[in-house]
Amino acid sequence: MEIKKIGVLTSGGDSPGMNATIRAVVRTAKAKGIDVMGIFDGYKGLLAGDMIEMTAKTVSDIIQRGGTILQTARCKEFMLPEYQERGAHMCKVFGLDGLVVIGGDGSFQGAEKLANLGINTIGIPGTIDLDIACTEYTIGFDTAVNTAMDSINKIRDTSSSHSRCSIVEVMGRNAGYIALWCGITTGAELVLVPEIPAPSNEEIIKKILETKNRGKKHFLIIVAEGIGGCNELAKHIEEVTGIESRATILGYLQRGGSPTALDRLHASMMGAKAVDLLCEGKSKRVVAYVKGEYVDFDINEALRMQKTLDDYSYKLCDVLSQRY
Ligand code: ADP
Ligand code: F6P
Repeated sequence: MEIKKIGVLTSGGDSPGMNATIRAVVRTAKAKGIDVMGIFDGYKGLLAGDMIEMTAKTVSDIIQRGGTILQTARCKEFMLPEYQERGAHMCKVFGLDGLVVIGGDGSFQGAEKLANLGINTIGIPGTIDLDIACTEYTIGFDTAVNTAMDSINKIRDTSSSHSRCSIVEVMGRNAGYIALWCGITTGAELVLVPEIPAPSNEEIIKKILETKNRGKKHFLIIVAEGIGGCNELAKHIEEVTGIESRATILGYLQRGGSPTALDRLHASMMGAKAVDLLCEGKSKRVVAYVKGEYVDFDINEALRMQKTLDDYSYKLCDVLSQRY
């Protein structure tokens, strides 16, 4: 089947680099003579038929912008078969021969449902969390880690000046990748992630005091969102050790900002790959980055894959931060 017209949408939490991805999809498609509809608000906009025609010009001046010009949404109704059928119908109403979905695992499940209803769909991993098992990279991760790292550097400065313990919560939903990367790149003394059993409170207290006794002026703990409880932990540490402790939840600042070069590059390559796949007659695929190459997987297969945090990096973070 010749692809003459496609749709593109962003879904789930936004991530820096989504705009660069939209740009790559639109410009690759236009270069091949394919029309593109930009669908607003993810699946919510698809159900409402909220879409406009995009040209190479409509994606000018966005490669460097955070967020998504197509807006994004979480659409609970789309979990229901009745609404998925409506979504597939809307693709037919607008004559879409294919749909590119930029988002995370949840968004890919929606794409899979549409594919089962006869719509050619391709997923592109766009999330700061890096929690998509089939790919070594998800668009937005590098920017989010750099943003968090920059903030943590600043917290570390004041933490050292006051000889305090700082507990910083970073995003990542149920995954600890942002936390681990921030831990290694800021020299944190402790990282708490959902994938690896946390030390007991007694072990944490012992480590803080030993570190202090070796002459360190601060103790920095990075807590993944999936662990949480950083206010309670700060209170506990201060009560038991007498060391002033402060909790900071970095929150949404991690999801914004101009994408790094790495994010723009992956976004450009993955956006183009998604259009190429549709033109090759493929559907129900997810674009992935594995061992330096851009590849694709069946969505079902991709969703069944499991990902674990690298134990070696976790241990290394500890080794590199301690004055043994
Ligand atoms: P992400 O794509 O970042 O993982 P969500 O998990 O919130 O984010 O999913 C984004 C959207 O994808 C949801 O709001 C919903 O519209 C759609 N979606 C999620 N799970 C399913 C599912 N099982 N079936 C159909 N659509 C789904
Ligand atoms: O998936 C990206 C992410 O920022 C997660 O790290 C976080 O758990 C979630 O989205 C927050 O979602 P919301 O925007 O719905 O608060």
